[in-house]
Amino acid sequence: MTPQLPEEATKAAPLLELRGVAKHYGSGAHRAPVLEGISLAIGEGEFVAVVGFSGTGKTTLVNLLAGLSTPDAGEVLLRGEPMREPGPDRGVVFQSYALLPWLTVLENVRLAVDAVAGERHRGERELRTKEIVALVGLSHASDKHPRELSGGMRQRVALARALAQDPQILLLDEPLGALDALTRANLQRELAAIALRQRKTVVLVTNDIDEALLLSDRVIPLEPGAAPGEPARIRASFPVAIPRPRDRAALNHDIEFRKLRNELTSHLLALGARRRAGRPIAPPPLPPLEPRVPGQGLPRVVR
Ligand SMILES: Nc1ncnc2c1ncn2[C@@H]1O[C@H](COP(=O)(O)OP(=O)(O)O)[C@@H](O)[C@H]1O
Ligand SMILES: [Mg+2]
Repeated sequence: MTPQLPEEATKAAPLLELRGVAKHYGSGAHRAPVLEGISLAIGEGEFVAVVGFSGTGKTTLVNLLAGLSTPDAGEVLLRGEPMREPGPDRGVVFQSYALLPWLTVLENVRLAVDAVAGERHRGERELRTKEIVALVGLSHASDKHPRELSGGMRQRVALARALAQDPQILLLDEPLGALDALTRANLQRELAAIALRQRKTVVLVTNDIDEALLLSDRVIPLEPGAAPGEPARIRASFPVAIPRPRDRAALNHDIEFRKLRNELTSHLLALGARRRAGRPIAPPPLPPLEPRVPGQGLPRVVR
């Protein structure tokens, strides 16, 4: 199968779109282009997975889609209009969890529920909060504080908070990376169910090809430049024509799944080999200590 160009994959008017987007960090001698000529159209209700090596610019891409940063060139469009700022219609889950350390799990999630359903009856909001905490499998830890949680559990609270906002678009930046395999599989199932049931539009950044194929309608490799210091681009899109619901165990025997997995793996390996042929690249920075939570000012972060 030949990968389609991203632009061709979505026929309906896109909900979220990047047009010829470029982004760099630094200036002068330290100017580092990260993304260039990025065009990507995401249709309403679509589940898109972005895969790529660490340091290629995936988080930079998510920040642009969230409206947390603006491109140097090109446009970011939301429903055809230029995007100006973060909004409640976009829920973001970052690699680093941004939880309020003085609140329990339940309270952290309740805050997000109250933010969007403040006018609802108290009992109803309480029910919704507990529902979401249960959804991410944390009912037993409801009264714990972030410092008492494992990394995976904190990541689940962060996901619960994003789900609580009930955003139309979920932007997930490697949200399951810190989880053990079993929890990860559980959350993958929940994500698939949520996306299907609530018709959310989802952009999931992941380094796990199987996860991308299990969950998405389309896998987009973010391709590093041919040499270090060159910006990443998007050149290919792999549609995942596997019917839903997808069963993880059954997938291993699915011909389409195996074919796509092979194609994507060789595609990424070829890109990796090309990059290794250049000079070694600096490792990506650690997540910021105090990431911004959209619309929440600057909370302290627990590690
Ligand atoms: N705020 C920043 N200032 C300067 N350089 C940055 C900043 N954020 C990311 N970078 C650099 O941009 C590149 C892409 O980073 P990032 O988008 O975090 O990649 P990924 O999420 O794919 O690991 C990396 O080389 C990283 O070092
Ligand atoms: Mg990242």
